[in-house]
Amino acid sequence: MRRTVARALIRPLVLAATLTAIPLTGAAPVAADSVVVGGFPIDVSQAPWTVALSSRDRFGGTRAGQFCGGVAITRTTVLTAAHCLTDDVLGAPPNRVHDLKVIAGRTNLLADEGQEIDVQEVRVNPHYDPDANTGDFGVLTLAEPLPRSSVVTMAPEGDPVYTPGTKALVTGWGDTSGGGAYARHLHAARVHVLADSRCARAYPGGPEGTYRPGSMLCAGEVEGGPDACQGDSGGPLVASGRLIGLVSWGSGCGRPGNPGVYTRVSDVLHTLETAAAGPQKAPGSA
Ligand code: ARG
Repeated sequence: MRRTVARALIRPLVLAATLTAIPLTGAAPVAADSVVVGGFPIDVSQAPWTVALSSRDRFGGTRAGQFCGGVAITRTTVLTAAHCLTDDVLGAPPNRVHDLKVIAGRTNLLADEGQEIDVQEVRVNPHYDPDANTGDFGVLTLAEPLPRSSVVTMAPEGDPVYTPGTKALVTGWGDTSGGGAYARHLHAARVHVLADSRCARAYPGGPEGTYRPGSMLCAGEVEGGPDACQGDSGGPLVASGRLIGLVSWGSGCGRPGNPGVYTRVSDVLHTLETAAAGPQKAPGSA
């Protein structure tokens, strides 16, 4: 039971209909105007590192096949959440999803601005634990480069942007209502980095999941409101122009006392560096 609920919580768009129909934790979705809940529409030029992961084959064409977010960390490398690349979400291993693409430079999913780029290689963090949601990241290699201006720097460990109270922006095409209203237009929400103790209290290890400060980052607003939501997973949380988190999980969206949980980017860097230095090719194959 615990495992079922925890897994359901991290499911993105593909099970949106089910999630909407069956309130997992009993509470009603928070009413909010908009990502991202409690956010606002923005132009992709304001956060050009934000990309959409797409498979029209798996998710249909009404929203250009968008099912998760991602973020460009080099001109040909995109980070996303590992849980976005699971069979659970894709219905098949990622290498069997033949039209897996990254959409960049496109504010409105149905417009034809920007680029649609084939994914050449998918690597899931070999340390990703789907039950604990730890190490929730994967690396996509693109078949063509993005513009240099689309790349965001990853904040290393010890960077002051990880300090609680830091203002950050999360962007994505996910649910804007907590009730299954998937956006076509890119949205953003302003949140603060919160102390690990906040998320530890919110997620002590019940059915909603356990907060692990080593590989996760806590962000949101104490009183609820702005937050990422289903469909935003894998997308960026950026502070002072540096990437600090990837949308990973949470209980509901924007609820008071239930902040958003992000993959901690300093831990991603650490894993990538360790793998690159080690005897094996980084970071493992899916
Ligand atoms: N797991 C969701 C996804 O796959 C992201 C949920 C984030 N939730 C939150 N309250 N911040 O799209």
